Amino acid sequence: MTASRDKSVSSEETKGEKRIRKIRSYVLREGRLTKGQQRALEEHFPNMGLEYQEQPYDFEAIFGRKAPVVLEIGFGMGKSLAEQASIERDKDFIGIEVHKPGVGACLVLAEEYDLTNLRVINHDAVEIIDKCIPDNSLDRIQIFFPDPWHKKKHHKRRIVQTEFCQKLHKKLVKGGILHLATDWENYAEYMLEVLNPMEEFKNLSETGDYVPKPDSRPLTKFEARGQRLGHGVWDLMFSAK
Ligand SMILES: C[S@@+](CC[C@H](N)C(=O)[O-])C[C@H]1O[C@@H](n2cnc3c(N)ncnc32)[C@H](O)[C@@H]1O
Repeated sequence: MTASRDKSVSSEETKGEKRIRKIRSYVLREGRLTKGQQRALEEHFPNMGLEYQEQPYDFEAIFGRKAPVVLEIGFGMGKSLAEQASIERDKDFIGIEVHKPGVGACLVLAEEYDLTNLRVINHDAVEIIDKCIPDNSLDRIQIFFPDPWHKKKHHKRRIVQTEFCQKLHKKLVKGGILHLATDWENYAEYMLEVLNPMEEFKNLSETGDYVPKPDSRPLTKFEARGQRLGHGVWDLMFSAK
């Protein structure tokens, strides 16, 4: 199968003779932009959007101040991210999402909340982490309800993997927080299997597994519905050693 036909592969890179195939943690959904999303992208992406670049961003220049920076990977439609940025105005937020309508939806909310402490990126988070995020620069990284990739043969496409978490660790300040949440118990267990043995992180759970939902994570509409239907949600929090 060629790289372009295999949807799990985002690109093929050649390093000397060795070919490195990158696993993709998402499927790019075809999705039309609503008029509101289109308008928000046109009006606000020039000021609130960050493009992929080959060098690390300068957060102080981007936000015009020095403040703790929170990064969210895969923010979906941005509801909880925008709400959080509106509550925690003393922090700066960066959200990464590959799905363009989601980026538009988040910018609609950014306008509603009149946010100045949020920037959005429409690109693969794996590449953004590799190239654009400076080391020791983030106070918190959050990944809420990442795509669960239910089938065992697809588990390699889950974004939470040892190598990726090692990269995330490099981006966090010492004591910085990695916060994960999922509504899929098998993925919650998988996250624990990846993170608990890593010496770079300390699990903040008193029982060595999950933490109660922290106030810093606003409830999403999807999650509230799940709660009414009796579905579980698992929060995991680790601090960077
Ligand atoms: C199941 S959704 C959850 C969205 C949101 N966090 C929520 O709780 O409603 C997972 C999201 O992660 C995004 N995603 C997956 N892999 C990504 C990647 N490598 N870079 C950026 N976004 C990604 C998907 O496009 C999708 O919107």
